[in-house]
Amino acid sequence: MFWWVNKSAVQGVSVLAPMEDVTDLALRKVFVDFGLMPHVFFTEFTNVEGIATGKLQVLHRITPDEITMGFPTIAQLWGSDERKFYNAVFLVLYLGFWGVDLNMGCPVKKVIKKGLGAGLIKPENHGKAYSLVNIAKQAVNDFWANEKLKKHWQSLVFSRLQNAISYLGDVYARVADFDLPEATKQSIAQNVLNKQEYLQKLYQNKALLKPTVSIKTRLSIIPGEDNNREVVQQQSRGNSRNNDGLPDPWLEKIFLWGADFITVHLRTAEEMSKVPAHYERIAYINSLAQKAQTPWVVNGDILSTKQGNDLIDKQNSIGFMIGRGIFKNPLIFTGYNAEHEFNCQNKFNNLNCKKDKLFLQQIFKKHKEYFDEIFTIANLQKLWKHALKSYTENTGISLTLDFKTRRDYKHIKSPQVLEKFKKMYKLRESR
Ligand SMILES: Cc1cc2nc3c(=O)[nH]c(=O)nc-3n(C[C@H](O)[C@H](O)[C@H](O)COP(=O)(O)O)c2cc1C
Repeated sequence: MFWWVNKSAVQGVSVLAPMEDVTDLALRKVFVDFGLMPHVFFTEFTNVEGIATGKLQVLHRITPDEITMGFPTIAQLWGSDERKFYNAVFLVLYLGFWGVDLNMGCPVKKVIKKGLGAGLIKPENHGKAYSLVNIAKQAVNDFWANEKLKKHWQSLVFSRLQNAISYLGDVYARVADFDLPEATKQSIAQNVLNKQEYLQKLYQNKALLKPTVSIKTRLSIIPGEDNNREVVQQQSRGNSRNNDGLPDPWLEKIFLWGADFITVHLRTAEEMSKVPAHYERIAYINSLAQKAQTPWVVNGDILSTKQGNDLIDKQNSIGFMIGRGIFKNPLIFTGYNAEHEFNCQNKFNNLNCKKDKLFLQQIFKKHKEYFDEIFTIANLQKLWKHALKSYTENTGISLTLDFKTRRDYKHIKSPQVLEKFKKMYKLRESR
């Protein structure tokens, strides 16, 4: 597994959180190009029914890439149909994703009502959640047992690892030309070197790499626990309890399901992101992770790599995941602390320093270029027609593209994240 390096070379593995309409391929590419990358990427959550019907509006979320996928990149999936889930896992592995993550934390009411996302946390849906994990594990094992497919995955992942390592050499050379204060450049250059070293370690140990099955979830459905207090209390009598003194059956269960790792967003579904993350639960979750020998990733309100590293105990919580922190500080994964170290003594999102604004403008310009290149209907159709044909030929699983081109629009999605960033930083289009 790619986490092993944590113990020897990396303080804590940093992960960019999956964020719908934000952490798409264009953003991940820009993060690599400007030296702002974490150790691990996730895709946005991707619906298996949409994959099964070959919908380009869904498939674009798992568009493969030769450089960024040299970093461990996990495809996050959701859906209920087990056959479609199985096939979707096969497809993302065939595309060279490093693993699949099962979304069991989406708090959107419509999704919960269907018994999916955070709805799987409800006791009546635990059986469903468990079988989805098993289906995903079965698909990974079947894929791996097929020598031809295993070799295909290895050759993709190993060649992308090499691509990324050499690409980071180019990025490092470019950092010197960034028109930025010396300290900021230092942070970025150091980040590039650290990540290059991390990828080199993965490459040296490439024989150990195998696709992972992971879960991303929340503490429970409602604050203070309790999906069904009586049942829960009966079930967990004599079992360990969380720091509130209440049983936490969901987490206790899923840690025993044999996932390769579990990401816990330290809030309940009902809390959305409206209350501070429950860091007081960390010790309890560490104990579950230790008992189950399943590592976990801590998530919620992390605003610097230092904070992330301080939250993990390095034995059980092997990494930290950052989502909205990138809006406040796009340099967050470099270890650059915008609030304390920024040369203007200013928060990044309030900054009015000319150089840094110009740097952000360069980032946005590149983002737009990638966006236009990747998400144009004609480009995606070409790429996916080819990918699905090859997939069907090699796996016998039939998937055809279902998308009727509309001539009157160019893109498959709108550049929402760009607009959000631009508004936040009050940026104009750079010339
Ligand atoms: C705009 C947005 C989109 C999100 N989309 C997803 C998603 O597709 N899958 C998922 O598991 N979580 C999603 N999340 C939740 C984040 O991955 C993360 O768990 C949450 O934001 C808490 O971390 P943070 O405090 O570092 O932002 C999303 C969050 C935001 C703000």
